[in-house]
Amino acid sequence: MSIRNGKTAGKGSAGKKQIAARPFHYRGRELACDGISLEALAAEYGTPLYVYSAEQIRYRFGLFQQALAGREATVCYAVKANSSLAILRLLAEMGAGFDIVSGGELERVRRANKAALKRVVFSGAGKLVWEIDAALKAGILMFNVESEGELEVLAERAEALGIRARFALRVNPDVFAETHPYISTGLGEHKFGVAIGKARAIYRKTLRSKWLDAAGVSVHIGSQIRSVEPFAAALKRVVALVAELRSDGHMIRTVDAGGGLGVDYEETIGAGTFDPAREVAAYAAALDEAAGELNARLLVEPGRFIVAQAGGLLTRVSFVKKNGEKTFVIADAAMNDLIRPALYQAHHEILPVVKGRGATAPVDVVGPVCESGDFFAHDREMTRVKADELLLVLDAGAYGMSQSSNYNTRVRPAEVLVDGSEARLIRRRETLKELMAGEIL
Ligand code: LLP
Repeated sequence: MSIRNGKTAGKGSAGKKQIAARPFHYRGRELACDGISLEALAAEYGTPLYVYSAEQIRYRFGLFQQALAGREATVCYAVKANSSLAILRLLAEMGAGFDIVSGGELERVRRANKAALKRVVFSGAGKLVWEIDAALKAGILMFNVESEGELEVLAERAEALGIRARFALRVNPDVFAETHPYISTGLGEHKFGVAIGKARAIYRKTLRSKWLDAAGVSVHIGSQIRSVEPFAAALKRVVALVAELRSDGHMIRTVDAGGGLGVDYEETIGAGTFDPAREVAAYAAALDEAAGELNARLLVEPGRFIVAQAGGLLTRVSFVKKNGEKTFVIADAAMNDLIRPALYQAHHEILPVVKGRGATAPVDVVGPVCESGDFFAHDREMTRVKADELLLVLDAGAYGMSQSSNYNTRVRPAEVLVDGSEARLIRRRETLKELMAGEIL
């Protein structure tokens, strides 16, 4: 089933043209996604509903490809940001590589586009034997190894399967990047990677290994980072290490600069101050300068920047109630559908699908889950909201659906992809039967 609008916009029209930073805009008083009515989508597919724009995703991905076109580079989309198969397929068709962190994500890439398996890098501090085996057999590009123990297991598994393992050590450059403490990873105190000062000795131990191929070096300093300097500082340290490793006899062909470029969650719709093209150009220029004459393939692993602003969470208001001085707008979406506000105190803009009139007043937008942490916004200035009307939580395309859960025994939302003039269901709403399918009485 799909919904069309009247116009005949072509698919994949993102090309080089510049488009707004978000696909959502008012047509008259009604909010639409790339021209498709959100009212119509809610009527067809119900709420809560994730709505994504294929055009925006292609545009964002294309920005990285274009900005890095001057050197040998692969953009490895971080699957964890949004792992829906249709989105992975769309990106794979543009030539994306993928950054995965589990055997499950490997299986997703395989189902979305088998040919993309050779462009997969496998990160994560706690890889399991079955996951390593599956990735070796799949012939992925590289393992981003996070500890000496993991390197030993990788060597064992490679030998057992008779498949040589390409690896990069994920080094911890001890660079500080301003972001939320839960999503900062590049400091000495974090669980990720190995201290850059220890890396050379670890690589050296693999020099004569038949089963380990020290193909690269990788780094990732955190997420939602809004300035480019920390990325450049981290990469410079990696480049210096690459020179040392080469002088030790390692054939380093790949440098993985990680992900982490942030977006502007605070900007109100249509303000036009956040320009994705400018952000990616500055990021790529900083990396390019830091990399210099690297003579290696450069990987980047953006997740959020590609999908966050391409998606919104559509929700219907169940009730509006007053408790004392406070007004609560109780939506049918909850923290189990989008946990970012509860978990990181993250800000998400919220828009009425039919533009409000009159004065604004502060409201709390909350869900029905039995926790005070179940909120989307506190004291948000909104025009008057009524029961049954639709709201759109913006910038929910990254770490929304992929972090959703069944808490309170709630089925997870459906997902719709708007592509040109058509909207297509890419995940139907879970049923209660499916939700309890694995349980044993
Ligand atoms: N590469 C590695 C090794 C990562 O750990 C991550 C994200 C990425 C790439 C992609 O980072 P991005 O470009 O999306 O910033 N749930 C949090 C974000 C967690 C990020 C974890 N690692 C949130 O909702 O803000």
